[in-house]
Amino acid sequence: MRLGKTSAFAHPSFFFRHAGLEFMKFFVDTAEVAEIRALAELCMVDGVTTNPSLIAKSGRDMKQVIAEICAITPGPVSAEVTATDATGMLAEGRFLRAIAPNVAVKVPLTEAGLIACRTLAAEGALVNVTLCFSAAQALLAAKAGAAFISPFVGRLDDIATDGMRLIADIVQIYRNYPTLRTEVLVASIRHPIHLVESAKLGAHVATLPPAVIRQLLKHPLTDKGLEAFLADWKKTGQSIL
Ligand code: E4P
Repeated sequence: MRLGKTSAFAHPSFFFRHAGLEFMKFFVDTAEVAEIRALAELCMVDGVTTNPSLIAKSGRDMKQVIAEICAITPGPVSAEVTATDATGMLAEGRFLRAIAPNVAVKVPLTEAGLIACRTLAAEGALVNVTLCFSAAQALLAAKAGAAFISPFVGRLDDIATDGMRLIADIVQIYRNYPTLRTEVLVASIRHPIHLVESAKLGAHVATLPPAVIRQLLKHPLTDKGLEAFLADWKKTGQSIL
């Protein structure tokens, strides 16, 4: 069966869902719309995460950027609140949700963030609790009804603490409660090994900077091997079509 590039069925998550299998989701960690569009063509975008620093880096209006990203992918697009009190977070979260149905409201792992998470989740919002640096914090986010918990592996590695250890702990804890709906979204990924280790541990989602997605694809032996195959093929004088 030949699948058109634009067909919804062409997306790998279609096959995994319908085969009854769950595969790791790849989110893209950027607010650069052009990058997301290019990666969506590769079927590498199951969702997107942004944060205030990424929005600042894009130099664009946040609401506009989030609306554009939501139109590219049907997957969850995390848009982060910037209020620090629960009332302000709730107001911002409700506003962000109104931009598009696939907005996931991102709140920090603070007391106010957990209160906002509980209320927004009860209203039916997908909530991504971010800036998680301990398994204890991940327990609280699950208790507050978060759809995603975002542990930051790279930032832990930066302070000489094993980021992957935290992923192992959270995955192990959440697995003990099969009805728990909170997904482990590995964030602050700096290189492909973070992704591979996360997949080995069974994390549900990894959010990847575009540069890391490109790194996943590349291997010098692939390039070298292809070059040799094509050179040998040329010598045969044949053509397939
Ligand atoms: C994603 O949700 C996070 O905001 C992001 O992965 C943080 O990455 P950084 O530590 O490289 O800034």
